[in-house]
Amino acid sequence: MRKIFKIIAIIIGVLILIVLFLAGGLILYTSVAPSPDPKSYNEYWPENLTYAEADEIAVDLVSQMTFEEKLGQMTGDMSFLDIASGLTSVLVFEKIPIVASGENERLNIPPFTFTDGPRGVVVTEATAFPVAMARGATWDRDLEFQVGDAIGKEARAAGANYFGGVCINLLRHPAWGRAQETFGEDPWHLGKMGVSLINGVQQHNVMACAKHYALNSIEESRFKVDVSVDERTLREVYLPHFKMAVDADVASIMSAYNKVRGEFAGQNRYLLTDILRNEWNFEGFVTSDWLFGLRDGVKGVNAGLDIEMPLDQHYTPEELKPAIESGEISIDQIDEMVRRVVRTKLLYITNTDTQEYTDEILASEEHQQLALEVAEKSMVLLKNDDDFLPLSAGEIESLAVIGEIADSDHTGDRGSSGTHPPYIITMLKGLQDYSNGSFEVIFDDGTDIESARQAAERADAVVYVVGYKSEDEGEYITSGDPEVAPENQWGEGGDRPNLFLKPHDQNLLMESLPVNQNSVVTLIGGSGIMTNTWDQLTPSILMAWYPGMMGGEALANILFGKVNPSGKLPLSIPKDEEHLSFFQADIDSIHYGYYHGYTLLDKENNEPAYPFGFGLSYSNFEYSNLQLDKTRLAESDTLLVSVDVTNTGEMTGEEVVQLYIGFENSMVERPVKLLRGFEKERLNPRQTKTVSIPVAAKDLAWYNPDVKAWEVENMQYSVFIGGSSNWEALLQSDFTIQ
Ligand code: BGC
Repeated sequence: MRKIFKIIAIIIGVLILIVLFLAGGLILYTSVAPSPDPKSYNEYWPENLTYAEADEIAVDLVSQMTFEEKLGQMTGDMSFLDIASGLTSVLVFEKIPIVASGENERLNIPPFTFTDGPRGVVVTEATAFPVAMARGATWDRDLEFQVGDAIGKEARAAGANYFGGVCINLLRHPAWGRAQETFGEDPWHLGKMGVSLINGVQQHNVMACAKHYALNSIEESRFKVDVSVDERTLREVYLPHFKMAVDADVASIMSAYNKVRGEFAGQNRYLLTDILRNEWNFEGFVTSDWLFGLRDGVKGVNAGLDIEMPLDQHYTPEELKPAIESGEISIDQIDEMVRRVVRTKLLYITNTDTQEYTDEILASEEHQQLALEVAEKSMVLLKNDDDFLPLSAGEIESLAVIGEIADSDHTGDRGSSGTHPPYIITMLKGLQDYSNGSFEVIFDDGTDIESARQAAERADAVVYVVGYKSEDEGEYITSGDPEVAPENQWGEGGDRPNLFLKPHDQNLLMESLPVNQNSVVTLIGGSGIMTNTWDQLTPSILMAWYPGMMGGEALANILFGKVNPSGKLPLSIPKDEEHLSFFQADIDSIHYGYYHGYTLLDKENNEPAYPFGFGLSYSNFEYSNLQLDKTRLAESDTLLVSVDVTNTGEMTGEEVVQLYIGFENSMVERPVKLLRGFEKERLNPRQTKTVSIPVAAKDLAWYNPDVKAWEVENMQYSVFIGGSSNWEALLQSDFTIQ
């Protein structure tokens, strides 16, 4: 009896402690000062400062600063209290609060107030757009600009003026856990989509931050992996998209956690100063990735890392003052860093902006409709034998929806990019709403395969919803105990062990697809999924990615033909994973070679299961009349390539016209072909449009490491144009650069 009382007392004690902890956290959360308002500093500065004016003021302000004030500009303002309240916010509300940096009331210097992305503003309830990889699959720059515009407005409404959500790391391998945050495997496509996002966001005077510079594409080893890379691969494959962001005047760059050629990216002088500042003339500021992005303050200063985020761990008087005294670093270097930071903030804060960023903007009806449109334009129809899709609501009496993800959150991982939409239209809900009683929807979560088979057998048609969840892939959140072997550690997200579906999903499909031939398999995930263990058993497959808060409605609209699918893969799905680059999640060092994705498949002549740029439509598009405006051009010229595209189907649809350049006559090693242009066009049935795509000769250059310069070869090039990177889909012509 006494033992029972003792146990009850312990349980009550523990419960009281938990309640006290949460209550304390809540008090802390609500009592900590709200994040500062950057806008309140406008009154101190003239409107619309030019770059030169902002720079002059910044120099003057730096001259008035104490050493501690300079460090204030060089570090995030997170304090111990903020960490405690932030932790409560994350635990209780699952929200990362705004983190500010560099407010200086004495000198009237505004702070930046940070929100993460990329699938929307994360610091408050806001629109959850489809993930960046899905948006990459739209191949629609104008649409991505609109997403940026919406995110920029929502950031301002949430009190943020700094958006850390432009992730433009190249997808070297689809198993990368954070694949969902970037736009795809091709540097040209990635750069163009990233620039659209940057332009959309920055027009609202929100500073965009392009990350993670550079070569960050393995999640579970991100804090330790040392990436070796030769100069051509670095310049031609892993950096072009960052250069495009810099040329588009991105305000800020975030360095990566990993090492590059033996040194952490956050303290890598070659990346941060030699290339970024001296070659590319980047005028904005560089921040570290958070907490482990800088290991040594002196190295950080010498490399040109301007701000340590989110708090001062190394940019401290204790670490930097002695280094100044010993001459390892100089106060001039510090002044230069602070000048860049202050100049950029002043430039953004003083821009005329008459728009009111009210709370109503957050997850507004307009933005929800945009999220729906993006989801509809991002889904990729991979297979549709005998035009099985679209389904006809009038012809079915019952629809089975099978798979646990159909009834759960499908918006993506819960790391730094996790959003908080007011609601999510699950795949099941979207289909139920569409039916509106006109056909019966039978749901089975698929955990018991026998019950799923029975549901499939009973229905006229079956929609499977299978794939990945936040537990399986995404930013890796782990207990991180170095004493415990990685496979035994608690962790959520991280890289994928392989590119197939999880074993249960594969079994579910293999055992239940045969009982009903009228099926569509909808795939959920942040990057490519291999289908060849089960794809012969179904007529149709739709890649839905993580489709954002409106995903279920988009799915129903596509499956029932209200919307014609137009997404195209921004990555290659191989027949065999061996056909891709080597990938390992837990690794200390790795070499990144010149080829990956479609360039590797092309080189080794391996046919993919689904090529880069591939995606079906309910219409057909025919290409004809390929024309070049000239066949000989100089290195300073731009070639105009045009082609007629005809919608030969019965439905209005959108087609992504892709242009590739072939380098078969090159004297140096080059990929077989490279994407150098794309346009998305809307075509009515039987309509023909002439689509023109410019190609600048300078964009065909290769990087010659011997002379440290880009060179355009004088030779004959091929131009390929069509609806996919697949050879059969491409028309060909030639031109010469002389
Ligand atoms: C991530 C960044 C993110 C930052 C702040 C880091 O762990 O790598 O992408 O912007 O946290 O949330």
